[in-house]
Amino acid sequence: MQRITDIQEMQRTADRLRIEGKRIGFVPTMGFLHAGHLDLLRVCREQCDIVVLSVFVNPAQFGKGEDFGRYPRDPDRDEALAASAGCDIVFIPNSEDIYPPDASTRVEVEGLSELWEGRFRPTHFRGVTTVVSLLFHIVKPHCAVFGQKDIQQAVIIRRMVRDLHFDIEIIVAPTRRENDGLAMSSRNTYLAGSGRSDAAVLSRALRLAEQAIAGGERNTAMILAIMHDELAGSPDIKLDYAAVFDAETLEEIIVIDKAPVVIAIAARIGNTRLIDNTIVKGETIES
Ligand code: PAJ
Repeated sequence: MQRITDIQEMQRTADRLRIEGKRIGFVPTMGFLHAGHLDLLRVCREQCDIVVLSVFVNPAQFGKGEDFGRYPRDPDRDEALAASAGCDIVFIPNSEDIYPPDASTRVEVEGLSELWEGRFRPTHFRGVTTVVSLLFHIVKPHCAVFGQKDIQQAVIIRRMVRDLHFDIEIIVAPTRRENDGLAMSSRNTYLAGSGRSDAAVLSRALRLAEQAIAGGERNTAMILAIMHDELAGSPDIKLDYAAVFDAETLEEIIVIDKAPVVIAIAARIGNTRLIDNTIVKGETIES
């Protein structure tokens, strides 16, 4: 596996691979890899000839007072894990190269970026779409894989790719979970003791919501009430939102009459912010 830190070297490598007719697949990450990231690499491996992973803790997507400074970092471990999952190139750029001091260009997907997560993190998605555009221009992939774990991010990236005519196929891969259901996240390292066991309540609430829908419930107020009840059993969890929304427009749904819909949840345990979701597909709604 090759490690590249220089932007131009990455671009020239991508040019060469394209001339050779190789299909380039890309998995952007902020590193501190876990099994969920490795799943994305494997999905990418199945679809492409060359798999590129980027590791870049993107300052632009952290708000003031968020965890940029303490975000976990271990590039050597990331490199070893990426190699074990069949990655060909790990791209680890420097922040000063990605964002020259006088950089003044931003990419923003209006509307979608202001909903849900955007209400709590107003500049977050602008930082994400800016860095992902930059990385797309550097890695020049044919296809890129994102996780359903960050469903709003995936929806916004798809919209950006459509609006800006990026010639890139976007694939969304399922969420990898711990044994108790907690969605894997680099931020789970912040959780200790009771916080860690409390965190499983998010996925339990989502499962109860799915069961209610499978049992015929279509009124989202009822579904959200079931979720709130479950969360109330863990008083250390502070809910930011639980919501049911359209999987493309992200608009809130009051009565579920079409699929797919997303059931999403965001909550805090101490200083740690957790998000999770599930997508309810047509088969469940029609049954
Ligand atoms: P990061 O949080 O490192 O996540 C990188 C990719 O892994 C994202 O597509 C995310 O949705 C996916 N992922 C995270 N947890 C997962 C899990 N448990 N199962 C499966 N996939 C999971 O998301 C980012 O970084 C950044 O915003 C980025 C897109 C790299 C831009 O900076």
